[in-house]
Amino acid sequence: MKKEFQDKVVLITGSSMGIGKAMASHFAMRGAKVAINARNAEKLGRTAKELRQEGFEILEVPADVSVWEQVEGMITSVVTHFGQLDILINNAGIATRGSVENVSPEVFQKMVNVNILGSVFPSKAAMPYISKQSGSIIFVSSIAAFYGLPYNGIYSSTKKALTAFSESLRLETKEKGIHVGIAYVSFTENDPQKIILDSDGNRIYLENRKGIKKQSPETVSSIISNMVLMRRNSVSLSFMGKALNFIHRIFPGIIKMIYTRNMATIKAQSEGKPRYVEAEKNK
Ligand SMILES: NC(=O)c1ccc[n+]([C@@H]2O[C@H](COP(=O)([O-])OP(=O)(O)OC[C@H]3O[C@@H](n4cnc5c(N)ncnc54)[C@H](OP(=O)(O)O)[C@@H]3O)[C@@H](O)[C@H]2O)c1
Repeated sequence: MKKEFQDKVVLITGSSMGIGKAMASHFAMRGAKVAINARNAEKLGRTAKELRQEGFEILEVPADVSVWEQVEGMITSVVTHFGQLDILINNAGIATRGSVENVSPEVFQKMVNVNILGSVFPSKAAMPYISKQSGSIIFVSSIAAFYGLPYNGIYSSTKKALTAFSESLRLETKEKGIHVGIAYVSFTENDPQKIILDSDGNRIYLENRKGIKKQSPETVSSIISNMVLMRRNSVSLSFMGKALNFIHRIFPGIIKMIYTRNMATIKAQSEGKPRYVEAEKNK
């Protein structure tokens, strides 16, 4: 594989598993030094060890991206260790399920904290360093951002908020030479250990979503890394993602009709029998 990211330092938030971990491996394979992040330090350490065994240069920076002081500490650690920061991938994100009527206020709050502020804070803290390198800030959004998905209202809203934030940031940082990109990720094969929140904030495993065509985390990583290389503003993943992006802008009524026709299926998926991780709330 070509080493297009040789001498570049990449920080990927939420990278102890799933798409973030795949991106860490992908950027490292293409020559980057990679800082990985998550809240659970033990699990992050295991991921770092695995990636180092592949011969990659990896730094682990445990932090909660929704807490400003921890984010400042994370960015300082990366810059102190590597001497620079070129690319920030705001990947950390959480999901919940349930109707607006059922989801608790605490879960709404947590979704906003992690999915919006958890991308806003790292971007703000990293900006001075990324500007020095004329580097990139990338937001990992979702095709759920195009049109409010029923029974996933707060998830859709937080991902849609990233669209507006990335637009503002792109205009504000043009003179500073920062590239700002947003990736609308489609259904992706999830880690078997992927955890989401139920409507009360209990941690439950996300069951394998059957009957849906999914992309591999490796494909997602390749598309996002190419977006960085080509300094593209936005990319929609998968054929369905591209079609949804086009249709929602020109004929939003069609998306509304598709969702309305499939309400029963979407509702049933959001109410599937939960498999609890532990009896703790709001971790
Ligand atoms: N999977 C899909 O089908 C899909 C589709 C569209 C968009 N996306 C987006 O792609 C991104 C990655 O999704 P994924 O499915 O790969 O996620 P995942 O497997 O659930 O992994 C989430 C990662 O984020 C970390 N994390 C969670 N909260 C955090 C916080 N407050 N601070 C720091 N790290 C945190 C987790 O570790 P800790 O729990 O230890 O913190 C974990 O490493 C998300 O933004 C998601 O919304 C995913």
